[in-house]
Amino acid sequence: MDCRTSLKTGADITSAMRAHRVADAISAGVELGVFDALASGGMSAAQTARKIKCSARGCEILMNALAAVGLLRKKADEFSLTPLAKKHLASGSPETMARMISHSTNTRRTWIDLQDAVKTGRPIPKTPERMKKSRERQQDDFILAMRDMSRGPAVDLAAALDLSSVENVLDVGGGPGSFLFAMIRRKPSIRGVIFDLPQTISIADRVITQEGFSGSVGTMTGDYNIDDFGDGLFDLVLMSSIIHINSPAQNRKLIKKGFRALRPGGSLVVRDFMLDDTKTAPVDSALFSVNMLVNTEGGASYSKSEIRTWFEGAGFERVRYFELPQHADICVGFRPAGRKTGKTKKK
Ligand SMILES: C[S@@+](CC[C@H](N)C(=O)[O-])C[C@H]1O[C@@H](n2cnc3c(N)ncnc32)[C@H](O)[C@@H]1O
Repeated sequence: MDCRTSLKTGADITSAMRAHRVADAISAGVELGVFDALASGGMSAAQTARKIKCSARGCEILMNALAAVGLLRKKADEFSLTPLAKKHLASGSPETMARMISHSTNTRRTWIDLQDAVKTGRPIPKTPERMKKSRERQQDDFILAMRDMSRGPAVDLAAALDLSSVENVLDVGGGPGSFLFAMIRRKPSIRGVIFDLPQTISIADRVITQEGFSGSVGTMTGDYNIDDFGDGLFDLVLMSSIIHINSPAQNRKLIKKGFRALRPGGSLVVRDFMLDDTKTAPVDSALFSVNMLVNTEGGASYSKSEIRTWFEGAGFERVRYFELPQHADICVGFRPAGRKTGKTKKK
């Protein structure tokens, strides 16, 4: 069953209810290190169990299931990685999705109590007991999940934007900086700033160094709901996967701050899951909104018309949308070229 389309039959409902089993088996394989244990060569379930310090019974049942879904190959008693698992599930692979899987595992632990979030309208507390991980490790999973998920989309966005008059970019809530890095790879003269919370900036600093962008990307620590970004400083302000975290009132203010940070003629680019006016389509965006209910105070997926209202209310002109692969909707608006730079208003 494709979970991006609506359910049509009783069998579809049964499949939907069982889909978590595959996800949970993959999560256990990643979190326990099964895929990493097999990255350097095949071995039996008993040998793997000893290496990852698990029960032989548990390991064999899990590994048989992972072989059944095509992630391991089993020959006699020996298990090895399939090419798909080698590429995406071993943590050392350049195309690893391991942190995305860890982050997805973390969010499933809150989704299981969705009923409580619906009753109260409040997020499910992410206590270390519930999550089975420290807050630092959850944050690391979250930010590196963004890196795992952005490799393709970042290249697509950089290719889709007109960067001819862009030299300075502010990446609001830039996380691991993937979108900024892709723009700089396309146009090396670009300089950028990642603005993010302190716990994320320490991860971003590490990634900037690892990826060789220390000369072109700086970081700024702050809270975008409290701090300003300056006045007329940037040619392009990016907000990728940011507005879904916030309430409509917070987004209205944030988009105004983005406007002020731009030089006249500069553009704000918002990338997110967006909905149509019914708010029931596309399926991915409607389900993502539930993720925001369980995980944030006021976040949701928003409709394109709501977002347009925020852009136009802030003063943007030539507001337009386009879509990129992997369900990414993009909204771009321009600060009018003739308008004078206003004063930055401190909160
Ligand atoms: C979903 S991630 C998106 C990361 C990146 N923009 C991307 O698309 O890959 C959200 C980012 O917003 C940051 N963030 C959340 N609330 C924030 C706030 N109040 N002020 C600054 N950054 C914030 C998080 O730390 C995280 O890096």
